[in-house]
Amino acid sequence: MRRPPAQSISHRTGRTIGPSSRSKRVRSRRATMNLDDVTTMTQTSSRDARPGLQAFLLLEMFVKLTIWSASFAVASVTLRYFNRWPTTPIWNADFRMAWDWGQAITLWMLVFNVTYVAALILLKVPIPNPKEGKFELRPGTRPGGQLIRAALISVITKARYEAPFPAIFVYQLTCLPPLRWFVGATIGPRSKSVNVTQPILGDPHLTTIGKNVVIGFGTSITGHTQDRDAVTVARTVIEDDVLIGAECVIYGGCTIKRGAIVGGGAIVRPFTTIGEYEVWAGVPAKKIKDLPPAP
Ligand SMILES: CC(C)(COP(=O)(O)OP(=O)(O)OC[C@H]1O[C@@H](n2cnc3c(N)ncnc32)[C@H](O)[C@@H]1OP(=O)(O)O)[C@@H](O)C(=O)NCCC(=O)NCCS
Repeated sequence: MRRPPAQSISHRTGRTIGPSSRSKRVRSRRATMNLDDVTTMTQTSSRDARPGLQAFLLLEMFVKLTIWSASFAVASVTLRYFNRWPTTPIWNADFRMAWDWGQAITLWMLVFNVTYVAALILLKVPIPNPKEGKFELRPGTRPGGQLIRAALISVITKARYEAPFPAIFVYQLTCLPPLRWFVGATIGPRSKSVNVTQPILGDPHLTTIGKNVVIGFGTSITGHTQDRDAVTVARTVIEDDVLIGAECVIYGGCTIKRGAIVGGGAIVRPFTTIGEYEVWAGVPAKKIKDLPPAP
């Protein structure tokens, strides 16, 4: 038999309160409590100013804007030097002149993008790669020199992957020779990813990818692992003929040996070595079988 819905008397009005209005009050009280919790958390985090991290964000903006302005100036002056700007203003142009404007702007964008990549390469030159090792990063303490190097390189890496408009061909240019030989990861011939030639790499300078490697969409490969109070920087090596499925995470310090396969969605723990022609999958990734070595 169904129980009748519980009723109670309101202390304030003396009226009977039905279950729906009572549960509404409880829900609203819970919601208020949750809101209070959130407010407390927000206040706590807003007190945690973390000037270092904010300086890092400002530096990132500064670097992007500086490269942007330099590219803008070089592209504009180059077109003037080669007399490539049409003489008629675009608003008075007939079709022929509008076509010339289109060509000029396309050329301007190409020069802009090449300059942007050249600036990325030049900015990387004075920053040495961080040494491999475990570095402490405790709240309230200054990060050491190795972590500062890693952070500066990550600013350049982000300026490459998140290049502001109109630097829309930076990814393609940095995957094409000769510029690819100066940027980031060593990637062997015939290797490919869903981004055609290179996957998105968190630490390109700490990643080595061999020949004929295939990397699926959404996979992250890093050369570091961040723990609560430390960052471990370690090179990740992917040898020849490896297949890494889609949506995997390969942490710093891993070595995936020749011919191995990492199944889609796997999370490969830091410092894991996957042997030749082994198949690993799962979270965390474990060996599921051996493959016969290639003839
Ligand atoms: C890992 C992989 C190569 C294994 O393929 P397979 O040799 O046909 O293996 P099977 O289907 O026989 O599976 C063997 C075992 O591994 C498990 N397994 C297979 N793929 C798995 C995965 N991605 N994650 C977790 N477990 C997996 C299976 O459930 C099975 O377990 P069981 O023996 O307990 O039943 C394949 O599943 C895979 O993920 N390929 C990558 C594809 C990809 O992402 N390409 C890039 C796209 S852009």
